[in-house]
Amino acid sequence: MKDLLHTADLSRSDVELLLDTAADFAVKPLLANTALANRTVAIYMTKPSTRTRLASETAVAHLGGTPIFIRGDDLQIGRGETIADTARVISGYASALIIRTFKQSDVDELGANSTIPVINGLTDDDHPTQLLADWVTIREAFGKDISGRKFTYVGDGNNMAHAWLTMGAIMGAHVVVATPGGNYAPDQGAVAGARAIAAKTGATIEVLTDPEAAAKGASVLYTDVWMSMGDPEDERTAKLKALAPFAVTENLMGLTTSDAIFMHCLPAHRGEEVSAEVIDGKRSVIWREAYHRRTTIQAILYHLVRGELSGNTI
Ligand code: CP
Ligand code: NVA
Repeated sequence: MKDLLHTADLSRSDVELLLDTAADFAVKPLLANTALANRTVAIYMTKPSTRTRLASETAVAHLGGTPIFIRGDDLQIGRGETIADTARVISGYASALIIRTFKQSDVDELGANSTIPVINGLTDDDHPTQLLADWVTIREAFGKDISGRKFTYVGDGNNMAHAWLTMGAIMGAHVVVATPGGNYAPDQGAVAGARAIAAKTGATIEVLTDPEAAAKGASVLYTDVWMSMGDPEDERTAKLKALAPFAVTENLMGLTTSDAIFMHCLPAHRGEEVSAEVIDGKRSVIWREAYHRRTTIQAILYHLVRGELSGNTI
């Protein structure tokens, strides 16, 4: 496996390795502080980022390398240079590329035309590095035995919903996504992909439109912003109205198990997708999740550059 372009690229054993290494990097950030010595990692983002950028730059520094941050229109891509040519040039300078942008196909094209590992730092369709941070955090809460547990995401059927389904499928989990359906349903291809993985791993995939049924008995209640980066502003009013019943409030949390945790990839909008009471309350693990963005990106860089991930063969 050269690149991490999609959550579905990872096998179960890859995820196990990455989660274990991330847990080590959480305790000892400088455990492998010469792994990228004298090497550079390019981080190219055409969308804003707080966590993924900081996590990526810090992870590279902890591995002894030098991050090179490139913002959106800094590159000649904006003046018509092709993605393929850009990929070949970056491959001559850097040991890996972390890319955040809109179209998944652009990330796929970068991967196909680079000789270095390319890591998806979020697209409109997927967010693989986030899900690794989420699952380290889930393991800190519940350990490795997740039998009998239900993992629920409620809200917009966006990149996070897709990644939630896919990673839950890889982990063999009972995974639930509840959205208003219609325009806000998860992409059918992403659901079908998760179901295909689930058929091999024994995971259960439920796609619902009832937030209460989704929350009932869940060990995790996860949500994300209702307006993602790039969503059309003229759809805001209609979208927020459709999503209002999916807000994570104390009432919805009340349907979960007594040891349930609240998760959110952040940034959050208190009073929209989640109440302040919940996100700032005792069951919220959001700061630990944000912390693990660094430990997991560090683990991904470490193992991908060494060629130690096998990739999903499903
Ligand atoms: N969760 C996440 O990806 O945060 P940023 O958009 O700040 O990178
Ligand atoms: N769905 C959000 C996730 C941000 C981390 C977005 O794409 O903006």
